[in-house]
Amino acid sequence: MLTIALSKGKLIEPTLELFRRAGYGSAGLVGESRRLIFPCSDIDITFLIVRPSDVPTYVEYGGADAGIVGKDVLMEQDSDVYEPLDLLFGACRISVAALRAEVACDRLSSKVRVATKYPRITERFFNQRGVPVEIIKLYGSIELAPVVGLADRIVDLVETGSTLKAHDLVEVDVIAQSTARFIANRASLKLKHAPLMDMIRRLRKAVAASQKASSMPHGKSGSKRASTSGKDRA
Ligand code: PRP
Repeated sequence: MLTIALSKGKLIEPTLELFRRAGYGSAGLVGESRRLIFPCSDIDITFLIVRPSDVPTYVEYGGADAGIVGKDVLMEQDSDVYEPLDLLFGACRISVAALRAEVACDRLSSKVRVATKYPRITERFFNQRGVPVEIIKLYGSIELAPVVGLADRIVDLVETGSTLKAHDLVEVDVIAQSTARFIANRASLKLKHAPLMDMIRRLRKAVAASQKASSMPHGKSGSKRASTSGKDRA
């Protein structure tokens, strides 16, 4: 029996769809529910539904054999996990943004105040550029910070750009691209080698098939879910 930690939120539906396409469909598993653990004996998998930022912790410490999580979370946490597979959905970018008016008049003080839920990524980025930075850690609604004068800049995920636009913010730098990843516990890879390698192989095949379907001329893919557009992001 494998235990797999899934990220709740925006990644959950495309993740479940991918597992179904890879042959791990189970009637016992639903994304929208208050339940946090789904033992699916028909496919020999127990799924855990956890916060995206907790997925690497479950996997690193063996609470789960493997998990699905955004690259943004992996970059922030630097966890000791094996990352064999880019699942290609949930595409977005981690960007620096500022109020349009601020960028236009370039009134930055010597130390930049940056609001973010990614303090380590932010610190690395500004340190590499030699820019002194004060980081204000927030847990969500990051775009509010510059609007109320809490920060000069934000570092946050951008998918469609509509949240930035709605708050009169503009991207000033793209730090990195992010997509959903399959990660695995290093000990589980040895102890449960066969089922984990089989899962990686089947997921890889399903990802390749949806890539192929989404590159086909319009109307021939047969599945809207095969799309890897940014709409699926965490
Ligand atoms: C994420 C992210 C941005 C928004 C970007 O927030 O933090 O706020 O999505 O998407 P867009 O470019 O398509 O507008 P999320 O909805 O996860 O909520 P949060 O603000 O609580 O993190």
